[in-house]
Amino acid sequence: MRLLDYLNDYADQDIYPMHMPGHKRNFDFLDGVSPYRIDITEVAGSDNLHDSNGILKESMDMAARLFDSYRCWYLINGSTCGLISAIFALARRGDKILMARNCHKSIYNAVHICGLHPIYLFPPVDPEFGVNGSISPQQVQDALEEYPDIRLAIITSPTYDGVMSDVATISHILHEHKIPLIVDEAHGPHLGFHPSFPKSAITEGADLVIQSIHKTLPSPTQTALLHLCSSLWKNREKLQEMDRRISDSLAIFESTSPSYILMAAIDNCVHMLNDGKESLFHEYIRRINMFAKETRVLKHIRILCKGTDSVENHPLFFGFDPSKIVMSIRNLRLTSGEFEELMLKKYKIELEMIAADYALALTSICDTDEGFERLLHALIEIDQEYGSDTPKPSAPPLVQESMMKMTVSAAKDMPDEAVRFSDSAGRISREIVFAYPPGIPLIVPGEEITEQIIANIQDLCANGITVKSTFGTLPKVIHVVEV
Ligand SMILES: Cc1ncc(COP(=O)(O)O)c(C=O)c1O
Repeated sequence: MRLLDYLNDYADQDIYPMHMPGHKRNFDFLDGVSPYRIDITEVAGSDNLHDSNGILKESMDMAARLFDSYRCWYLINGSTCGLISAIFALARRGDKILMARNCHKSIYNAVHICGLHPIYLFPPVDPEFGVNGSISPQQVQDALEEYPDIRLAIITSPTYDGVMSDVATISHILHEHKIPLIVDEAHGPHLGFHPSFPKSAITEGADLVIQSIHKTLPSPTQTALLHLCSSLWKNREKLQEMDRRISDSLAIFESTSPSYILMAAIDNCVHMLNDGKESLFHEYIRRINMFAKETRVLKHIRILCKGTDSVENHPLFFGFDPSKIVMSIRNLRLTSGEFEELMLKKYKIELEMIAADYALALTSICDTDEGFERLLHALIEIDQEYGSDTPKPSAPPLVQESMMKMTVSAAKDMPDEAVRFSDSAGRISREIVFAYPPGIPLIVPGEEITEQIIANIQDLCANGITVKSTFGTLPKVIHVVEV
């Protein structure tokens, strides 16, 4: 079957996308134009993404004004290339960096490429929902006292599940030590456009912010933004130096043939927000609030920070992004895999992600009343039919305290040995292991494999969650550092 036929067939099935991309297939970002008609290369007048001074620069300047940053770069290789480029621009080989252990795998790849020494901040776990809480300013403060030679810090806010960290206080603490902060805001490009949403890290003191606009705004897959918005490098010369360093990094990690189709789509998204953000976000928040109110009837499924739950019940959260719908299914007689399948087969709703204890639906300004109603209807019926008064024992969280025995680069440089995963406790992994989504490593190269992590991963697989690894041989075999 041709891929195009598959895609068209899928589109004909009336499956509602409660997942990214944020345009929800409900938005014609090319205004009806055939993509081939506008697929050009750098010609006279079309500017050049890697050395912009014309139409692309104008558009990126407009985006910088819209998002309130000093400079904005359009990215056509996702936040992945933005994060790697940002880290490459700011860190020097061998640097010690402070990073949240629940960072996306692209950040671990940057740590590998740049030969960095990470000091991990482990996020706490919310006992009710099993999701990671915020990275606290106190954790950052303590780490700086213990490791005064840290050169850079990276956190994710909001997380995939919508949990915000206190970027303003964290950046203030770091800046007192002249340490820049990169915020992975892949899941938060919609923040700051309405008072009901938390503020973006761009205006909260972060130095570089990377956003996947394809995830939560109407822009196609692969499109993202990198913002330089420093409050650390206040003087103009320093900002210009950073500007040059980032452009230099992007020239390494981003395609030399950036797609004009994708760039035109980003430009359309920026114009759309510029012209209509108030009414678009007003309608969006009305839908979210209506949905949240209606979920109060649910007796067994709990929705994080919505309906009968609220952010006040979660002292480990600094804040919460209301666009995320995190559904706890501990009180259902269904595994998360069965819940996902039921949603798809019976209600024609495709969810974004399942973890062992919960499922995640992503919303955006392109969702319709009908979409929210379909999800609500499904939840009410499932709640009635499969509800149980005895909660399942809570599953272990995706990110747990782990023991780094060597850096990622050191582990990758070692010869490897294939061993049975069930017998690998005590060995040092050479592979990255992650549930996808969310792409947060369960095991990082250089970490010791424990009995606990083996049991957790086997449990995830048994729940129908896709666990991936560098060489794709899990859950049977893992490659470890040879002894
Ligand atoms: C937290 C986080 N950061 C970065 C990325 C990478 O983003 P992209 O897919 O735009 O490259 C992801 C992707 O899922 C993510 O979840």
